[in-house]
Amino acid sequence: MARYLITSALPYINGIKHLGNLAGSMLPADIHARFRRLQGHEVLYICATDEHGTPAELAAAEAGQDVATYCAQQYQIQKDACDGFRLSFDHFGRSSNPPNHKLTQHFCEALEKNGLIEERVSKQIYSIDDKRFLPDRYVEGTCPNCGFERARGDQCDNCGTLLDPIELKNPRSKISGSTNVEARDTAHLFLKQPLMQERIRAWVDQATEWPPLARSIAYKWLDEGLIDRSITRDLSWGIKVTQNGQIRPGFENKVFYVWFDAPVEYIGSTVEWAEATGGANSQEKWERWWRTDKGADDVTYVQFMGKDNVAFHTVSFPVTIMGSGEPWKLVDRLKAFNWVTWYGGKFSTSEKRGIFMDQALDLLPSDYWRWYLMANAPESSDAAFTLEQFQQTINADLANVFGNFVNRITRFAASKFDSKVPDGGAWGANEDKLAQEFAERLTALTQFHEQMEFRKAAAELRAIWVAGNEYLQVAAPWTAFKTDPEAAAVGVRTGLNACALFAILAQPFIPDAAKTVLDAMGVPEKNRMWPNPADRGVWDALPRGLQINPPDVLFKKIEDEQVAEWTAQFGGGA
Ligand code: 2FM
Ligand code: ZN
Repeated sequence: MARYLITSALPYINGIKHLGNLAGSMLPADIHARFRRLQGHEVLYICATDEHGTPAELAAAEAGQDVATYCAQQYQIQKDACDGFRLSFDHFGRSSNPPNHKLTQHFCEALEKNGLIEERVSKQIYSIDDKRFLPDRYVEGTCPNCGFERARGDQCDNCGTLLDPIELKNPRSKISGSTNVEARDTAHLFLKQPLMQERIRAWVDQATEWPPLARSIAYKWLDEGLIDRSITRDLSWGIKVTQNGQIRPGFENKVFYVWFDAPVEYIGSTVEWAEATGGANSQEKWERWWRTDKGADDVTYVQFMGKDNVAFHTVSFPVTIMGSGEPWKLVDRLKAFNWVTWYGGKFSTSEKRGIFMDQALDLLPSDYWRWYLMANAPESSDAAFTLEQFQQTINADLANVFGNFVNRITRFAASKFDSKVPDGGAWGANEDKLAQEFAERLTALTQFHEQMEFRKAAAELRAIWVAGNEYLQVAAPWTAFKTDPEAAAVGVRTGLNACALFAILAQPFIPDAAKTVLDAMGVPEKNRMWPNPADRGVWDALPRGLQINPPDVLFKKIEDEQVAEWTAQFGGGA
């Protein structure tokens, strides 16, 4: 048994996430966590909402709420949607909770002791009409790189360039729209990343288990040269800046920058989990996942995220935790995704384009979305979500291939074998062929899961289901029943065992449907673990004579009328 710490990028608190966000971090992380648990490993899957920074403040203002109330409400909404999608977090925390405050302040103080922090006065945009500084997204203007007129202070959405608000041309306040702004001096803390450049490079050099996309992004940053990075902001909502445990003089109206505290919440959320479940031993409980001096040296830490997050996880956060000089666990494997687009364009709440997590669950059960999103995971390039392809994939893979298989064989067993796993008959060439193909494909499926190749894993699982249908086609117990009842008995027994096996393998992708099948087949919880390809015993795992209950239709086909209705509701290709 090994130990896996799994985290997915923390969703921003400002509004419910769309299907593309889900597919690029939380969903694949959940599938990996489920797979590792089925292999019998010890897994801790951690996530949280990312609640600080200007996006949270701006969204709260738009909603007419104070930030704390807004965040509390949105947290519950996001948590409910995650539960609805069956994301099996061990803990879903909040970056605004006390453990993250304590840890973030601790890291800054440790970095300062190690000479990696410098307090420095710099120019920031100040709005005379709003009587305040305008950090990050509080200011918009023209991108100095591409000329896009609605670039945000922290980043241009058109060309992707990361910006400092001071670089924007024609800056204006996002609060009042006022252009009556000026550059004013203000003190901030800077993290002296260049001092860590060589250590980070050496660490990336040894990170051969990262996929090429992640490593190339890290090297791009390192090659461009790390720069001193400001880690504080002139804002009131966030984590206060301390020095020796007290508010740092001159920083009364400042907080840490959201990207400084957000990744620390991976640890903070683990502390929340330990405090909620560990009683008196909570410190020991979380440290064995995060401190290599306290047992975390045998943990494999796997992170999931969209490609825009890679630099923060391969460079900035490692600078923070390595720079502390303390033995924190660093990421071992990192899985990054491209974007899921809505018909090739952006999802947008305001322009009513695309389906968001809560809406999806009103339309169909979570398994339908989980399957489609992972069978088309944006791994090697962006992937477009289209309702037409969604319909086609669900109807083919889930309704026809998997659903039909389960239905045909369980119903036949019910009508001709009294709903019992038949005894009698002998294993023949057809069964051998199925078992052989199953063993080969299971080996591949297991590897794809281990390598976090989700598209390939889904394709392999589908191929296993197809092999089951092909088997039923040739074994044809319904024909054999009249002439050769023994052969029919073998066919049905093999078919029923296949049902159980297929459902066991389906658990990471479509946990609800898999559970329905396994419950119907009377498979006890302890027998639902990931099988071993070399074990032929799996084909006789269901006790002969066991009573089964044919499940109802597992997956309803998606009709053309539904596609038309959803296209009108959420915007389609046009
Ligand atoms: O890009 C995002 O959605 C960020 N909220 C991700 C943060 S990940 C982690 F570092 F907190
Ligand atoms: Zn630009």
